Amino acid sequence: MFTSQEPSKNNIIAIASGKGGVGKTWLSITLAHLFTRSGRRILLIDGDIGLANVDVQLGIAPTKDLTDVLRHQLPLKDAITHYHVGFDVIAGRSGSTSLANLSPEKLLGLKKDIHNIAHHYDYVILDLGAGIEHYVQFLASLAARCVVVLTDEPTSLTDAYAFVKLCSTKLNKTELSVVVNQAATQKDGERAYDALNKACSNFLGTSPSLLGVIRRDNKVRDAIRAQSPLVEKSPHTTAATDAAAISIKLLQRMCVPVSG
Ligand SMILES: Nc1ncnc2c1ncn2[C@@H]1O[C@H](COP(=O)(O)OP(=O)(O)OP(=O)(O)O)[C@@H](O)[C@H]1O
Ligand SMILES: [Mg+2]
Repeated sequence: MFTSQEPSKNNIIAIASGKGGVGKTWLSITLAHLFTRSGRRILLIDGDIGLANVDVQLGIAPTKDLTDVLRHQLPLKDAITHYHVGFDVIAGRSGSTSLANLSPEKLLGLKKDIHNIAHHYDYVILDLGAGIEHYVQFLASLAARCVVVLTDEPTSLTDAYAFVKLCSTKLNKTELSVVVNQAATQKDGERAYDALNKACSNFLGTSPSLLGVIRRDNKVRDAIRAQSPLVEKSPHTTAATDAAAISIKLLQRMCVPVSG
């Protein structure tokens, strides 16, 4: 199935934030699940390598992960774990070496491998770590589209702004959009987006679009505690409904036809 092909990045979506703990990993998993339900073949990669937790939220214990790829030259395809709802996962490993310590050659190799593996899926979702370190920038640069997740807290807005600034100066080929998560109401979420957008257009001359608002919902925490995806556990709850609207919008924007 896996052969070497010309690199392409148009089906890679990075989920980023700036500030930690805003819901990147949860949103990455939820989008992977929703895209799978709509018939897409999905690979979810935990790009938060040193502090990985996709596997924890999913309640899986992969035997191989990205650390094996980077340390022992394991082919990337051999680090894939199939998750029972229908998507594939390449996990990270908490406490392992982070991408920050990798040589430029290793990073280049990883870039090629991710681009090659992306040919075998409709979409690859990259769950990024917090911050704007160079390895976060490196992973974001692999994606055609970057979804910046923020909450309505001032610190989250500031860090999201820093991430947009970085993208608009260094990653100008990556399309940006915004998700406001954990909002008390749709209106509060829109207000947070407006504040970010105003700063971006005033100081950066750019205007990332709003992909959607996800309301705060205790069922998210319950699902994470139960290590069971929200879409499976509580498909009609507020956050799942909001995320479903976002997944539809994102699919429309990515505009890649479903493969047969
Ligand atoms: N819509 C929501 N409603 C309520 N709680 C939420 C929502 N989204 C996320 N959370 C809470 O936020 C916590 C952090 O989520 P998550 O681990 O996905 O964030 P993260 O951005 O990936 O964090 P990190 O930067 O540490 O990787 C979750 O444990 C969950 O309890
Ligand atoms: Mg995370």
